[in-house]
Amino acid sequence: MLTVRAPATSANLGSGFDVFGVALDRPGDVVRVSKADAVSIDVTGVGSQYIPEDPEKNTVGAVAEALEAPAHIEIDKGVRPASGLGSSAASAAAAAVGLNELYDRGYSREELVPIAAKGEAVVSGDAHDDNVAPSIMGGFTIATDEGVTRVDADIPLVACLPDIVVSTRDARRVVPESARVEQLVETVGRAATLTTGMHRDDPDLVGQGMYDTVVTPARAELIDGYEQVRTAAQEAGATGVTISGAGPTVIAACHQGNQRAVGTAMIDAFEAVGVDARVYQTAIGEGATVF
Ligand code: HSE
Repeated sequence: MLTVRAPATSANLGSGFDVFGVALDRPGDVVRVSKADAVSIDVTGVGSQYIPEDPEKNTVGAVAEALEAPAHIEIDKGVRPASGLGSSAASAAAAAVGLNELYDRGYSREELVPIAAKGEAVVSGDAHDDNVAPSIMGGFTIATDEGVTRVDADIPLVACLPDIVVSTRDARRVVPESARVEQLVETVGRAATLTTGMHRDDPDLVGQGMYDTVVTPARAELIDGYEQVRTAAQEAGATGVTISGAGPTVIAACHQGNQRAVGTAMIDAFEAVGVDARVYQTAIGEGATVF
């Protein structure tokens, strides 16, 4: 038997829709894999009642099939499903890393990314790598059709998860089909600024880059209180605020020592519109770890 912990992730970061992602040092999913004649799945932990154990419908079933690695797979969820924190990706990433090692398949971490993304597709209806890449490889990742570029970065983050459910399928439905050239120009500038900020461990540059005028405004409509929470976080000192992945988590970058104030402001702002929320004071962390 092998045990793997894979981290929650925050995808998009505003300007990097379907491309950027970061591994968060908390929360995470723990997955145990043991060889068996056929795939079977047990799910426990946060939101496990909403997760199917049928291998055809669970994210890890597709991963086991792609790796031709039948196993009994126990998933202990630490990342709430439909949170915008890469919940299905964390399970898929942990299963990919665990089964690769259990069956000695010899894939590199980067090669495991598209395999884990097949599991993501079962849940979101679309295979994109921006959550599985950081969950497997850690750090800040840029996932494109050419592969994954990984950057070590140290930026304090606050992830505020409201008691709202937004499915990735719904959040993808509201994404505009086109954008104006001015928006493209703005987005390229922001994305380049964010990437430079990650290289320099500079929360101000990262914060400036966490902004877009195309996807985030459309999705903000799905999150009660989003604008109030964003304003409250900025007033408390956050350098940048945006929707984490498909939402509803709101993610803020900040300076060292400022996370508590930013987190409290975000929770209070959600509370003021009648939404309970919890906060993770977190940072950019490691990828999946085998125990
Ligand atoms: N990039 C994806 C999205 C992440 O925002 O829809 C969620 O799976």
